[in-house]
Amino acid sequence: MVSRHRIGLTLTAALLASRCGGAAPKPPEIPADPASYANVAAFVATHLSLDLTPDFNTRTMAGIASLTFERRDPAAREVVLDTRDLHISKAEAGTNEANWAGTTFTLDPATAAFGSALRIAMPPEANSVRVTYTTSPGAKGLQWLTPAQTAGKTHPFLFTQAEAIQARSFVPIQDLPGVRLRYDATIHTPADLVAVMAAEMEDAPGGAHGTFKFHMPLPIPSYLIALAVGDLKFREMSERTGVWAEPSVVDAAAREFEDTEKMIQATEQVYGKYQWGRYDLLVLPPSFPFGGMENPRLTFATPTVIAGDKSLVSLVAHELAHSWSGNLATNATWTDFWLNEGVTTYLERRIVEAVYGRRLADMEAVIGFKDLEESRKTLDTPGDRTLLPDLAGRDPDDAYSSVPYEQGALFLSFLEAKFGRDRFDEFLRRWFDDHQFQSVTTAQFVAFLKSTLMTESPNVVTDAQVQEWLHSETVPSFAILPKSDAFAKVEQASAIWQAGGLVEGLAATANGWTTQEWLHFLNSLPRKMNEALLTALDKQFNLTTSGNAEIAHAWYRLAIANHYTAAYPAMQQYMERIGRRKLIVPLYRDLAATPEGLALAKKIFATAREGYHPMAQDSIEAVLKK
Ligand code: BES
Ligand code: ZN
Repeated sequence: MVSRHRIGLTLTAALLASRCGGAAPKPPEIPADPASYANVAAFVATHLSLDLTPDFNTRTMAGIASLTFERRDPAAREVVLDTRDLHISKAEAGTNEANWAGTTFTLDPATAAFGSALRIAMPPEANSVRVTYTTSPGAKGLQWLTPAQTAGKTHPFLFTQAEAIQARSFVPIQDLPGVRLRYDATIHTPADLVAVMAAEMEDAPGGAHGTFKFHMPLPIPSYLIALAVGDLKFREMSERTGVWAEPSVVDAAAREFEDTEKMIQATEQVYGKYQWGRYDLLVLPPSFPFGGMENPRLTFATPTVIAGDKSLVSLVAHELAHSWSGNLATNATWTDFWLNEGVTTYLERRIVEAVYGRRLADMEAVIGFKDLEESRKTLDTPGDRTLLPDLAGRDPDDAYSSVPYEQGALFLSFLEAKFGRDRFDEFLRRWFDDHQFQSVTTAQFVAFLKSTLMTESPNVVTDAQVQEWLHSETVPSFAILPKSDAFAKVEQASAIWQAGGLVEGLAATANGWTTQEWLHFLNSLPRKMNEALLTALDKQFNLTTSGNAEIAHAWYRLAIANHYTAAYPAMQQYMERIGRRKLIVPLYRDLAATPEGLALAKKIFATAREGYHPMAQDSIEAVLKK
C-alpha cells in the first residue's frame, strides 16, 4: 500500500509539470506510423459518420464516410487518407459535417503493403470531408460467406477484421492506432439479416430490420471498428454480458462463456473499472481467421473455442483483458504491438488464475512458452524475434507471431516476480489509469517503469535487463520461466507408456486429463513414433475425430510428422472447414516440409482457399511458396 502513494505522487508531479507549463495545452503529437499515409501533422480525425450498404450478390459495400478533423496546420490544403482497393466516386469538403461542396481528389498508385493514399483538396475553412465509395470483392478486411459456410446453411454472412491495417479496405480513414475517433454508423441490410457493430446499438435487437444504427461514444483507434451481418440471435448471460451467434449456436455459446461476468469482476478488482458499458461476444462462423478480436463492447470469437467443457475460454479472458491493455492504452504504432498483446497475455493468465485457479494458469503459461520457442524458429527476419520489430515498408501482419504475446508476458511476469505482485498490480493499474484513451509507445512504458517501480526500488531490475527483454531474439537467461506440476505428471505417464507400457495403462491416467494436459502430452511426443503406438493411441482416445479443435490440431501435427495417413481425411475436412490461422497455417507448413506433403497441401488449399479469409489466404500462400 505504501507503493500506491509513492507511485501516485511521482505521477501527479509529472502531470502537473507537463500540463501547467504554458498557456493552451498542446495536443500530443501523433507518433509517426510507417503503415499510414495520413498527414496527421495537418489533420487529425476526431469523428466518423459511416453509412454502409452491403450487397451480398456483388460482394461489395457501398459506403459514405464523413470525417471531421482537428486542423493542426491552418495552411494545409489537402487531407490524405488511407485506402485499399476502394473505388472512390465522390469527395466533398465541408464544415462540421455540413455545408458540403464537391472537391477534387486523387488516388495514388497502390503499394502491396499499404494500399493507396487518397488525397482530398481542402478549402481553407473546411474541417470535414465526405467520401462516397464502394469496396472491392477482394477487400482484405472483409469476408463474405456463402450460406454453406454458416452453421444455419440458409443465410449469407459478412464480417470485418480491421486490425492491423485493414480498416482502410472498407472505410477511407486515417488508419493508424495513434489517431482515435468517435463514430456513428447506419447499416442497411437485407430484411432477414441482423447487423451488429462493436458499438452501442441504437434500437433494441428485433427492432426495425433493414436499418441498424450504432454509435461509439468513446474515442477508439480505426483498427477497432467492426461490423458483422448475418442470421444472428442474442442470448443474455448477465446484466452487462451476452452472446450473439447464429440461432443453432447461441445456446451452446452462452453456456461455454457463462463465466464472462466473473472474469470482468476479477479484472476490475485488480485493474480498475470496465469502461465500455456492455461486454458481449459475437461467435462467428469457423472461417474467422483469428481466435478472437477485441472489438470494443463486442469481442469477435471463433466457434472453435466452444469445446463443450469451457476448456478453451481463456480466449475470453484474453479479449476481455484488451478492454484495458489495447483498447484503453493502445499501441501507438504496430512496432509497439507487444504493449497490446504482451500485456494482455499477462492479464489473461491473471484472469484465468483468479477464476479457474493457478493450476490452469500455469499450464497455459507453459504452453505459451513452448509456442514462443517454436514460433521463433519460423521467423526469417531477426528483428521479428524481438519485441520491437522493424516494420518500415511492411504490412504489420507479415511480422505477426507469438513473440509479442509470450516474450511480452514473460517480461511482465519477470517484473511481477521482482517487485512483488501487489506493487506490480498497482503499477499496471496506474499505467491504464494514466494512459486511458491514449496511444502509448514502448519508450513511454519504459519511462513509466523507471519513474515508478525502478526508482522506488533501485537495483531490483536494471536498465540493461529491460533493454534485453525488448531487444533480445531469445528469452533472457534471467527470465523466470513458467512451470506446471500437472505437466510433470503428464510427462511421467508419457514416458512409462512410450517405454513399452500398454495404452490401457496410459488410459487410467489420461482419462482424467484436461485439454491442456492432452495438448502438452501430444506436443511433447517425439516427432518420429512407431505406427503401432500411434494407431493404439488413436483407437483408445479417438484423436483423429476429436471434437476439440486444439487437440485435433496437435494430433494432426503429430500425424503429419509420422505420415500417419489414417488421420488425413479428417484433417483435410478440418482444414476445409476451419479458417483460423493458428489452427491451419502450422498444418500447411508441416505438410509443405516433404514433396508428397506439399502436393497434398496444395490440393487441400485449392479446394479450401475460396472459403478462407483474405488474411488467411495470404498467410497460407506465403507458407506454400517457401
Ligand atoms: N488482437 C488479436 C488478434 C489480431 C492481432 C488480429 C493482430 C489482427 C492482427 C487478438 O486479441 C488475439 O490475440 N487473438 C488470439 C487469441 C488469444 C487467446 C491469444 C488469436 O486470435 O489467436
Ligand atoms: Zn490479443
